[in-house]
Amino acid sequence: MSQSFSSRLVAWQHAHGRHDLPWQGADAYRVWLSEIMLQQTQVATVIPYYQRFVASFPDVAALAAASEEQVLAHWSGLGYYARGRNLHKAARLIDERHAGQFPSDYDDILALPGIGRSTAAAICALAYHQHRAILDGNVKRVLARYCGIRGWTGDKQIEAQLWQRAEELLPVHEVAVYIQAQMDMGATLCTRSKPKCEQCPVHEDCVAFQTQHVQALPTPRPRKAVPERHATFLLLMSGRDILLEKRPAQGIWGGAMELAAVR
Ligand code: ADE
Repeated sequence: MSQSFSSRLVAWQHAHGRHDLPWQGADAYRVWLSEIMLQQTQVATVIPYYQRFVASFPDVAALAAASEEQVLAHWSGLGYYARGRNLHKAARLIDERHAGQFPSDYDDILALPGIGRSTAAAICALAYHQHRAILDGNVKRVLARYCGIRGWTGDKQIEAQLWQRAEELLPVHEVAVYIQAQMDMGATLCTRSKPKCEQCPVHEDCVAFQTQHVQALPTPRPRKAVPERHATFLLLMSGRDILLEKRPAQGIWGGAMELAAVR
């Protein structure tokens, strides 16, 4: 029998995964910070922000004691500023609820602002080696392909199937290495376009690869029907001049000039 999905991922991670990221092997506070920064931002962009952030705020207490302006100044340029505001709020809550120690209980972590199910699980697995499955955008793509799950991964039912598979595939040992392997595989091999299937350690039993559906999976978000509108406009000319009106400031094309609308 071939090796399990997880043992091949773990072996791949030891040989080909990323081992030099500054938050790897760090304490839970740093793992948390890195996971929040990495939610919508690539590793290469995050690294200098992460380093400046931990130099100024080395622990939960330092972050809780800082002002929101100081925290947001360190976030400036990273985007999605609610992440920075939530991080600061969470640090103050950790101070109150957990005496400044980053909690190790999954439900306590999930209760903090800005932390969803997958991020809470990633912190538990990476920082505390707890037996927890994750399901971020990369892992959704890896599992949709490997398991051949069709349907938009944002759909509640499809998401529930993916969570179930993520939990079933979780290994007993080396959970932190396995979780990092899923993230690194998703980022470097099982990419949205031009995936490197020939280098993938699980292509032999990847449903999408074996059935030539790699490009089609995961199923893209269904397109919303383009709304159709009917309107009547007046083309009023005087010599070479055409009457134009300014659209209301609010709504589509706010403040733009257009032909006089017959309302
Ligand atoms: N994306 C989200 N979390 C990550 C991590 N720990 N390492 C690399 N990429 C990630």
